[in-house]
Amino acid sequence: MAIRVGIVGTGGISRAHHRAYTKVGGFEIVAVCDIIAEKAQQAAENWGVPKKNVFTSYNKMLEMDEIDTVSVCTYNQAHRRPTVAALNAGKHVFCEKPMAATLADATAMVRAAKTSGKILQIGLKSAFTPKLQFAKKVIDQGIIGGIYYSESARCRRRGNPGRTFIYKKTAGAGAIVDIGVYNLHNSLYAMGYPKPVRVSAITEDYISMQNPRFRDKMDVEEFGAAWVRFENGGVMVFKISWAVHQDSLGGVFCLGKNAGISLDGPIVYADSYSKELQKLVKSEGLTAKADPPEGMTTIRFKGFPEVDVWEAQMTAFREAVKTDAVSPLPPEGVLLTNVIMDGIFRSHESKKEVAVKVPEI
Ligand SMILES: NC(=O)c1ccc[n+]([C@@H]2O[C@H](COP(=O)([O-])OP(=O)(O)OC[C@H]3O[C@@H](n4cnc5c(N)ncnc54)[C@H](O)[C@@H]3O)[C@@H](O)[C@H]2O)c1
Repeated sequence: MAIRVGIVGTGGISRAHHRAYTKVGGFEIVAVCDIIAEKAQQAAENWGVPKKNVFTSYNKMLEMDEIDTVSVCTYNQAHRRPTVAALNAGKHVFCEKPMAATLADATAMVRAAKTSGKILQIGLKSAFTPKLQFAKKVIDQGIIGGIYYSESARCRRRGNPGRTFIYKKTAGAGAIVDIGVYNLHNSLYAMGYPKPVRVSAITEDYISMQNPRFRDKMDVEEFGAAWVRFENGGVMVFKISWAVHQDSLGGVFCLGKNAGISLDGPIVYADSYSKELQKLVKSEGLTAKADPPEGMTTIRFKGFPEVDVWEAQMTAFREAVKTDAVSPLPPEGVLLTNVIMDGIFRSHESKKEVAVKVPEI
């Protein structure tokens, strides 16, 4: 039997959810909800959802026994309430990224997932690229060794999305929660979710404020940079922008005691192409070129399958729901992105390094 889905929030991204559910198969969208009735009605018409299952209140929608899982596609400030309500109503939840606009919201969501025993998966789809999955295995197997430093940067020279993304009341914050969350999560996920303890950061909105499209409207940041200390002694430098006078802020890499790894490649930098790495490459069905074979060796990999990350994340969700397994991206791990983002905004406000604490779940 198909997994029956109710979608909350029928704006832009709900269409991608509909496409992915249809492509992956095994799902049926049975109900939709939006606070704007016309949007919900239009979505229902487009997706063949019966008129009686169109709602403007997610609480009403959640009374439907016929719903197994809920897609939360509302803007960031409205992630917490429908997610917590759906989990408490015994539904599994697939919620869009970022997990939430605030640390308090994210914590409430993770607690509800724990108490209900239901799956909470956050739409951090870039974790599902075969390249990142492989890089994570390289790190998990100890090939890189203890990671003492990492960087996670991404740059849009001009790429402010506008719409509901530029207001605190809908998005909570700007580039950091919108696209920075992918960087933060990719790095934390690959490194095995090290616990952050201190953050020093700045944010900026200068370039957008020169643009009449955003001036006097936007109240979130277009740029952020942070220095994050982890309990294990390691440090991560994080940089992100929607708008900046540069075309690169660097890449995503980790420096370990045995080797370094670029997560963008992935590329491994080591003194040699170790037997363990050779074994992993073989077992993953990849090929590698180590140049030179000994000395300052750079190892590049080939043979990664082309994967549609939307399809990959929804397939992982479907399998977790079908087998009553845990979320493929543990919510307690994803929560660390909110811990760091909260530290970034507090540090920017106070102009000081701040302590951050991972909440008890
Ligand atoms: N995964 C991706 O690639 C990707 C891309 C874009 C956006 N997103 C995420 O998707 C989310 C939504 O983005 P969007 O572009 O679709 O925004 P949007 O503003 O187009 O749509 C949000 C919809 O939610 C509705 N809504 C708000 N509060 C509600 C509530 N309490 N109950 C029911 N409906 C409610 C709004 O009326 C609106 O129709 C954001 O969290 C964003 O970060 C993800």
